[in-house]
Amino acid sequence: MMTLTKLHKMKQAGEKIACLTAYEASQAYWAVEAGVDVILVGDSLGMVVQGHQNTLPVTLNDMVYHTQMVQRKNHQAWCIADIPFMSDMDLSTVLDAAARLMKESQANMVKLEGGKRVVEMVQALSDLGVPVCGHLGLLPQSVQKKGYQVAGKEAESAARLLDEAEMLENAGADMLVLECVPAALAKQITQKLSIPVIGIGAGHETDGQVLVLHDVLGLTIGKAPKFSKNFLSEADSIQTALLQYVADVKNVRFPAIEHCVG
Ligand code: KIV
Repeated sequence: MMTLTKLHKMKQAGEKIACLTAYEASQAYWAVEAGVDVILVGDSLGMVVQGHQNTLPVTLNDMVYHTQMVQRKNHQAWCIADIPFMSDMDLSTVLDAAARLMKESQANMVKLEGGKRVVEMVQALSDLGVPVCGHLGLLPQSVQKKGYQVAGKEAESAARLLDEAEMLENAGADMLVLECVPAALAKQITQKLSIPVIGIGAGHETDGQVLVLHDVLGLTIGKAPKFSKNFLSEADSIQTALLQYVADVKNVRFPAIEHCVG
């Protein structure tokens, strides 16, 4: 079984961490068979499973239900469950949400979007023994305010992101997802932090990569993000596509260096 200690050792040893989203039992089973180290039950399920425009309608009950399905057939990977939009509006709601995800769904870790705003929550969760993954850069739960765009392109926003990453680690975060930030900044943050940093659209020099399963299997309705890759288009089965994804992350063949921003 994957543990936080093993994930931290992988960072220290320079061994890449392969992470993939999964939303139900069979997806979790095949992701584990392919050798993923970490499964993220992302609130991206709002779009790829439920058909919404964004992640905002996803409820805590949805997250509990999908994480339960995943955990029934995940006997190996570290499982992160997203705290959905507005379940982190204050300390009490975030503690309740984490309690449900850890107790009712057996998630190993919860993920919270944001920097300075969530530092106190990360500290409180961590003090209670709840492993927390931060999420910086493009924040899908803030899409109505900020849209979907690369974060940290200017010197000032890059410095702020670096600062917030350190604040999260100091507050007790055990992992960090960096979404859509320039590769050079992602590298700097990865080197600065001692916790594993998992990138998505953040270049190849983070400690690991995460993709949305539906993008990896070419199931995404409409346009998949530019940084993603359909591994099924070059494979003869779902299983082979997932094996290839894991192998390419481990061997630093994904993301392709020439596709990385900044
Ligand atoms: O919800 C999700 O799937 C995520 C990933 C895109 C990192 O947060």
